[in-house]
Formats: sequence, structure tokens, C-alpha cells
Amino acid sequence: MSRTPFVAGNWKMHKTVAEAEEFITALLPLAGAVDDVQIGVCVPFTAIQAVVDSTRGSSIEVYAQNVHEAEKGAYTGEISLAMLDELEVHGVVVGHSERRQYFNETDAALRAKVPAILAAGLTPILCCGESDAQREGNETEAVLRTQVVEGLADVADEDLAKVTIAYEPIWAIGTGKVATPEQAQETCKYVRSLVAERSQEAAEAIRIQYGGSVKPGNAAELLSLPDVDGALVGGAALEADSFAGIIEGARA
Ligand code: PGA
Repeated sequence: MSRTPFVAGNWKMHKTVAEAEEFITALLPLAGAVDDVQIGVCVPFTAIQAVVDSTRGSSIEVYAQNVHEAEKGAYTGEISLAMLDELEVHGVVVGHSERRQYFNETDAALRAKVPAILAAGLTPILCCGESDAQREGNETEAVLRTQVVEGLADVADEDLAKVTIAYEPIWAIGTGKVATPEQAQETCKYVRSLVAERSQEAAEAIRIQYGGSVKPGNAAELLSLPDVDGALVGGAALEADSFAGIIEGARA
């Protein structure tokens, strides 16, 4: 089955509204009409409205970087799905290792978030990935099994393919130390096999991104791997030129 590649830029805690608008103004002529790669930008809450407005009519989708699983309530500082849906975001990236590590996002919370995002009609990007010590200790598969199985546990089989999974080895995030093509392929294939335990059909359709030090220079090789269906990009997605270079790599 051929899967449309999906390249998403994760801005993390970067870009004011003015900087976000400058980025979109630069990106639109480079990638705004690309129709053979799905393109997303994962934007800080404060810039979502501006980016939704400035990308309207283009092929660039807007994602939030977190959401609370509850419909509403006494959760100071949190953002609900209704609030995001009102802004017309396309989806939400959840479970990023930085959120797991620094903000205590747990597999139990993700188990609630992923189906809640789908129920709101939005697309979840569920991140997973092992640390350096876990890879060294041969725990990669066990770690990914827990993260993926838990995160998808309350998603109906027929909805699994609506989720995108981003496999991001923690040791490759922001380090310049990219996974080898063999590691990226083997691990993304393993993640797909976990989905296949639920539904073979979903496993063939679901997109699995690789993330961790993806750059214009390595994107084409990584994205040509059979089980790598796109990329979640941090640092190299902050400049329109290099983000567009990665999108080009996905088309190669
Ligand atoms: P990086 O980040 O591309 O800067 O390594 C990837 C990510 O955290 O999604």
C-alpha cells in the first residue's frame, strides 16, 4: 500500500506571533502548493490563531503541541479540545519525550488523550521513543511496546489508521546524532508490527514518522525507507528553507 508521506515541524517553545507569521510568509511560496506530501506545523498555543489564518487555503496544516484529555474543568493552565477545535487546528502532537520527561505526561494520560483527540475530529500524532540507556540495555522494543500499546489502547481498531505515530529515539533529538537508516527502518517496522497485532489493515495504512536530527541532507534517505512514512522535525523546521528542503526530500 502506498502511504502519503507526512512531514511535520515541531516548533517547541519557539516563535512569537510575529516570528510565526514571518516563517509562514517564507514557507508558502516554497511548499504551500505541495500536494504529494502532507505538511504540518506544530505551533505554540499563542500563535495558533495567526498561523491558521495565514495558512488558510494552502496545503499546510496546523497542530497544537499538547491538549488536556478532559472536556473542561478546574485544570489551571491547560487547554481543551473544544478550545483547539474552535481555532480550526488539524490535530495535536502528544507524548513528545520532552513532555514525558519534563512535564510528567504519562502513558495513562496518553491513553485518554489519543481517543479524545479523534473524537473531536482531529488528528493525533503520538510520539514514542527510547532513551540511550534503554537502547544500550536492549529495552527499545519493550519501551515502545508499552508506549504504543498503551497510547492506542482505547482507540477502536477502525480508527487506528487515523493516528500518526512518530518514532523519535530520545538520543537523536536535538543532538545531531541521527539514527542510522537501519535503526530507523528496523524500529519503525517494529512499531508497525505493534499496530498489526490490533489490525493488519490499520498497520498497512497508518503513517509512522521518524524524528530526531532530521535535516535536508539526510531526509531523502530516511524517508525512502519502506516503513518510514515521514518525519517529525524540530530544529531544522524552524527555518522555512530547511523545512522546505526536508519536504522536498519526502518527494524524492
Ligand atoms: P530535532 O527534534 O529534529 O531537533 O532533533 C525532533 C523532535 O523533537 O521532534
